[in-house]
Amino acid sequence: MTDPREPKQAKGVFIKTYGCQMNVYDSERMRDVLRPLGYAPVDSAEQADLVVLNTCHIREKATEKVYSELGQLKLLKQERGGNLTIAVAGCVAQAEGAEIMRRQPAVDLVLGPQAYHKLPEMIARASRAVGDRLETEFETLEKFDALPKTREADGPTAFLSVQEGCDKFCTFCVVPYTRGAELSRPVDDIVMEARSLAAQGVRELSLLGQNVNAFHGAAPALTNEADWTLGQLVRHIAKVGGIDRIRYTTSHPRDMDDDLIAAHGEVPEMMPFLHLPVQSGSDRILKAMNRGHTADHYRDIIRKVREARPDIAIATDFIVGFPGESDADFEATMQLVRDIGFAIAYSFKYSSRPGTPAADMFGHVPEEVKDARLQQLQQLLREQQEAFNRSKIGQTVPVLVTGKGRNPGQAHGRSPWMQAVHFQYERDSGVGDRDPRVGDGDLKGHIVDVRVIDASLNSLTGELIKVREAAL
Ligand code: SAH
Ligand code: SF4
Ligand code: F3S
Repeated sequence: MTDPREPKQAKGVFIKTYGCQMNVYDSERMRDVLRPLGYAPVDSAEQADLVVLNTCHIREKATEKVYSELGQLKLLKQERGGNLTIAVAGCVAQAEGAEIMRRQPAVDLVLGPQAYHKLPEMIARASRAVGDRLETEFETLEKFDALPKTREADGPTAFLSVQEGCDKFCTFCVVPYTRGAELSRPVDDIVMEARSLAAQGVRELSLLGQNVNAFHGAAPALTNEADWTLGQLVRHIAKVGGIDRIRYTTSHPRDMDDDLIAAHGEVPEMMPFLHLPVQSGSDRILKAMNRGHTADHYRDIIRKVREARPDIAIATDFIVGFPGESDADFEATMQLVRDIGFAIAYSFKYSSRPGTPAADMFGHVPEEVKDARLQQLQQLLREQQEAFNRSKIGQTVPVLVTGKGRNPGQAHGRSPWMQAVHFQYERDSGVGDRDPRVGDGDLKGHIVDVRVIDASLNSLTGELIKVREAAL
C-alpha cells in the first residue's frame, strides 16, 4: 500500500557538502525540508533533478572548487535541455551571493546558511522564473524555528547544531562574515531534537557550533533561570534516555570555563576528546590573529582539562605562514606541539581571504616557506597521532559500532577518543556465536568492548570481547 500523502512522482536531490560539520548538519536539515516536497536523496548529480552545493569559503582552494564544480553541472544541465535545478548554499553563497550568478548563469538559486527554511519557496520561484533567487539575510532563529522539529537519523551518531555564528573576529577568518553573529538555540528546542534522534537509535551526539563553548541558550522554560552555558547543557542532555555519548565541537580557548572543564571529569557521557584550536604557539602571532589568549594560557587550559580527565585526547588546528610569521614564531608552534602532545590536529597554510584584516597585513610569507613549515609541522603531528593510537594497544575499549566491515565477521566503530576501530568477531573471537544479539551479524548501534591488537596512523584494529549490557 502506498501512503496517499506520499507525492506520486519522487524527484531526486543531490546535496554535495564541503567544509565543516556545521555544513554536514545543514545538508541534513535541507534534506528534511525537501522531503515533504517529494525530493528523495540520490547519490550523484546525474540521478538528480535538484543539485545543491553546500559550500565553504574558509580557504581560497575551497571556494575555487565550487566554481569548477559549477562548470561541470552547467554541462549536465545543457545535456538535459535545461532540466536541472542548481542551487548554491553555504558560506560561498553568503559571501559572494550575486557574484556567483554572474560568474555562472546556470545557477538557479543562491541561499546563505540562514535561509534553508526558505528553500521550498525559492525552488518554486526559480521554476516559475519569478521573484528573488538570492537569499542571504541573517535570520538564524527564524531558520531554526522554521525547520522541522524532528530529524531523520542516519545511524547511531548524529550532529546537533546548538550555536551558530561567531563574534571573535580572528583576523584571518571569514566565518563571522559568512555565518553572522553568535546565536544560541533555546535549551528546550535542543532537547526536543536530541530526544527525536535518540528515539531513532542515535546514541552519540556531537553538539555543534562555530564557537560551541560560547553557548548561552535560553534555559528550559520551567526553570526561570538565566541563559545556560554549554556545561549546563551537556549535563542536561546526558539525562536524555538513549544518549550515551556526548561530544562538542569546535571550541575557543577563551570560552573554556571551569564548569565545562569539570564536566569532563564528572559527566560519564562526556567523551574524553576535546577539539580546541590553538592556531599558533607564538604569542606575537596569536596577538596579530586576535585570538585573545597566549600560548601559556592554552597550556594552562590543557593542564586543567587533563587534571579533570587524565585520558582525554586533545585535538587542535594550526595555521602556518600567517603574515609576519618568522622562523622563531614557527619554532614556538613546534615547541607547543612538543609540550602538549596532540592526539590529532588539522594544519593549514594561511590563505588570504578578501575582506579580512589579515589580508591587508604586511609580511605575507612566501608559498615555499609555508610549504616547508607545513611539512615539518605535519611530520611531528603524524608522529604524535600514531603514538597516541599505539598507546591503546593491549587495552580493552568501548566501541560504538557504526557498521559492518567489508568481509563477514568484521565491523567498524568509534572509540571514545574518536579513533576509527576495525574489529573482528565470530570467527576469531567466538563471542558472536554465543551472543544472541550478534545473530544476524549486525552489531550496528551497540556499544561493545574491543581489545585493541594493533594501531596505525588512522585507526585501531582489535577483536570483540563482549557486547555491553549497559553503555557505560
Ligand atoms: N570556529 C573554529 C574554526 C573554524 S575554521 C575555531 O574557531 O576554531 C576551521 C579552521 O580553519 C580554523 O581553526 C583554522 O585553523 C583554519 N582557517 C580558518 N581561516 C583560515 C585561513 N584564512 N587560512 C588558513 N586556514 C584557515
Ligand atoms: Fe573564525 Fe576565529 Fe570565529 Fe573560529 S573563533 S570561527 S577561527 S573568527
Ligand atoms: Fe567553511 Fe563556512 Fe564551515 S566557511 S568551515 S563551511 S562555517
